[in-house]
Amino acid sequence: MLRMTAAALAVSLLAGPALAQDGAQLFNLQCKMCHNGSPLGPPLAGVAGGPIAAKQFAYSPGLKNKGGTWTDESLDAFLKAPAAFAPGTRMLISVGTEPNRKAIIEYLKTLK
Ligand code: HEC
Repeated sequence: MLRMTAAALAVSLLAGPALAQDGAQLFNLQCKMCHNGSPLGPPLAGVAGGPIAAKQFAYSPGLKNKGGTWTDESLDAFLKAPAAFAPGTRMLISVGTEPNRKAIIEYLKTLK
């Protein structure tokens, strides 16, 4: 019985959240200490769908020279492996699971 409960819990943790609401929680836990109200990272309002590295912020050359737009795909690639996406980036935190990246990206889209 206990075993089944643990298994069910593991499955639900692995499946992860998939809504902007859950993305907000993840963001508050994993991102907010550096973004939106913190000087450590650029503000992220309007970042989804907007140009890469275009806020008032001292970006690394790696991200600054990347060019292009933050799409679902590029945000996912960056959050999955920041240094692979933009070598030299100063954002080192990554989001390991796909459902969590999806939820965070949905939340980023709500930040205007
Ligand atoms: C320890 C601080 C820190 C944390 C935690 C952090 N970031 Fe960042 N983030 C940065 C920095 C610094 C940059 C700028 C990187 C560069 O210039 O290479 C950045 C850049 C970004 C960008 C690109 C912004 C732009 O203007 O193009 C996005 C998107 C982003 N972070 C999302 C996130 C998300 C989502 C999380 C949470 C999962 C997160 N960050 C957690 C520091 C952080």
